[in-house]
Amino acid sequence: MDILKTKSAMQEWSKKKKKESKTVCLVPTMGYFHQGHISLMEKGKPLCDELVVSIFVNPTQFGPNEDLDSYPSNIENDLALAKKAGVTAVFLPSKKTVYPEKFQTEIKLQYLPGFLCGKFRPVHFSGVATVVTKLFNIVMPDIAIFGQKDYQQLQIIRQLTLDLDFDIKIIAGNIIREKDGLAMSSRNAYLSKLQRSSALSLSKSLNLAKELIARGEKNPVAIKNQIETFICTFPETTIEYISFCNPKTLEAVDSIEHQVLLAIAVKVGKTRLIDNALIDHPAQ
Ligand code: PAF
Repeated sequence: MDILKTKSAMQEWSKKKKKESKTVCLVPTMGYFHQGHISLMEKGKPLCDELVVSIFVNPTQFGPNEDLDSYPSNIENDLALAKKAGVTAVFLPSKKTVYPEKFQTEIKLQYLPGFLCGKFRPVHFSGVATVVTKLFNIVMPDIAIFGQKDYQQLQIIRQLTLDLDFDIKIIAGNIIREKDGLAMSSRNAYLSKLQRSSALSLSKSLNLAKELIARGEKNPVAIKNQIETFICTFPETTIEYISFCNPKTLEAVDSIEHQVLLAIAVKVGKTRLIDNALIDHPAQ
């Protein structure tokens, strides 16, 4: 497994592979791997000749009061897990490599960041869009894989790939859950024992909504009210949003007639957790 730390080394590596007619797949990450990351690598492995993982905690996607300084990291363990998953190269740039002095460009989408997490994290998606654009230009992958847990991020990357004419196939990876239903996230490491059990309120809410919709409930407000009451029974929870929306545009729906995305963000203590599900209406 090659470890590349500079832009030119990464670009030269990819150019060489392309000259050899090899296909390159990129899994962009911020490290501190869990099974969710590994599943993205496992998804990419059979689709390409060369599997690249980038590890970079991108400062521009964190707001001023967010967890950039405490974001968990364990590079040695990440490298061992990547090797085991069959990764052929890791791009491990420094902050200065990605954002040299005098860097001044920002990629900003017009509509998709205006919903869900974007309402609460105003700089987040321009930071994500900018770094992913740079990763695409540096790694030059044929395929890139992003997890569906960050559903809004996935839609934003699909849109930017289209808008900026990247010849890259974007593939979605399933949400990977712990046995009890908690969606895997590097931020789960912040949770105390009590908070860990309160964190289950998210996946349980998704199940509650699925049941209500399966029984014929079509009114998102009625379901939201029930979910709100339910989440509030768990200690240390503060709801940020519960949204039933169109899976493509992310606009809120006022009746559940077709497939909807239910997206939830809850703070458990100080830890912000998100989860989501695509839910089909039984009449479909
Ligand atoms: O999903 C993430 O880990 C990050 O947002 C990403 C896509 C690696 C960009 O920093």
